[in-house]
Amino acid sequence: MRDILPPDSARWRRFVGVFAGVVEAAGYGQIMPPLLEDLGVFTRIGEATDVVTKEMYDFVDKGGRHIALRPEVTASTCRAFVQHRPPTPWKTWYTGSNFRYEKPQRGRYRQFDQVGVEVLGADDPYLDVEVIALGWEFYRALGLSRVTLLLNSLGEPDDRARYVEALRTYFTAHLGELTEESRVTLAKNPLRVLDSKRPADAPVLAGAPRIAQYYGDAAAEHFATVQAGLASLGIPFTIDSGLVRGLDYYRRTTFEFQGATLDSAQNALGGGGRYDGLVEALGGPPTPGVGFALGLDRTLLACDDEGVFPAPDPSVTVFVVDTTGGAEALRITADLRAAGITADRAFDNRSMKSQMKAADRSGADLAVIVGANEADAGTVVVRPLRAAVVEGQSGQTTIARSDLLTYLRNTNT
Ligand code: HAM
Repeated sequence: MRDILPPDSARWRRFVGVFAGVVEAAGYGQIMPPLLEDLGVFTRIGEATDVVTKEMYDFVDKGGRHIALRPEVTASTCRAFVQHRPPTPWKTWYTGSNFRYEKPQRGRYRQFDQVGVEVLGADDPYLDVEVIALGWEFYRALGLSRVTLLLNSLGEPDDRARYVEALRTYFTAHLGELTEESRVTLAKNPLRVLDSKRPADAPVLAGAPRIAQYYGDAAAEHFATVQAGLASLGIPFTIDSGLVRGLDYYRRTTFEFQGATLDSAQNALGGGGRYDGLVEALGGPPTPGVGFALGLDRTLLACDDEGVFPAPDPSVTVFVVDTTGGAEALRITADLRAAGITADRAFDNRSMKSQMKAADRSGADLAVIVGANEADAGTVVVRPLRAAVVEGQSGQTTIARSDLLTYLRNTNT
């Protein structure tokens, strides 16, 4: 778990702002579920999922309730839907921290942030397309150009069940060639064996049956419409029949956005899909759902690697230097800020030299200086800190204190 300090924290906030701009323009409203839920909410994500079985921060609270810090937001959104029964389609977006007890490394943390969307109550394949397109548009808005989209369908529940049996038969026949971890996964959910990134499993995985052979008409048609919709928006994608994703609740469409620059174990910048059974599993009516979540931490690493979406410049425009005790700086900074000009100042009545050093360090464009003479005369000195000083001129001007705002506006400050 990490501390996010300035200026990175401002970058995070802008990241969320850009995401909000993209999804709110498409009619999504923000949901803010609690960080803690009853453990049962998350066990519905799937008993064969590491996220649930190995990585959850769960504990018994003072009231004897078994609760957990959320490892993701999809289950919480479905729980909230069951509880509040909003009109459908319910189009939501979220941002916030999630917790998974994973092995920390670059791009993988125990507390990490996501932004995401979830839509409940619509079965339409064009909704899948809308959701995927929003993710795509967001990466574009950040300036990322090397993100690729992987797409798959896991079929309708019946198709998926037949496929799972075919996989079970196949993997059981090749048990000796699978890693110990994959054998354990096989006993719980053969589909998740396809998710193994262990090189030793690769040859067996390569020969495994493909889901496409098991689609019924409904799933095949849904998937074809999703592909046609993406193509009509000019969004490139690659079909990856091994894309089952790390969580068990997916049905039909699944997708992942991959970055080009991160290690393969951490190159998933985001992912999602349909999870039509989850609301029902949480005690609600049968309700289709689709959504995605993007890892904020990881996406920012991809931005660093591609040299886009830098942290915003934290500097103020004006730094006020006051050697008369500080009361002048108090009033001047208040006036500047009220006029929409960002301003900072020195404290503790330090020497002129020390305050000017602070002004330089602040990155401000201008220093506004008040000493005893200026205070008596009702003036201030305005000194450029960054612009090149014209030869033979000091580069600074003395103006009436009452003209300061007008002067700064006229100099485009
Ligand atoms: P997920 O694939 O588990 O899906 O996580 C989505 C994204 O969160 C990942 O692609 C990755 O960028 C980021 N992420 C996950 N774990 C970590 C970690 N330990 N450290 C840093 N980043 C991480 C979900 O969470 C689903 N709820 C997505 C979804 C929404 N499906 C349908 N709707």
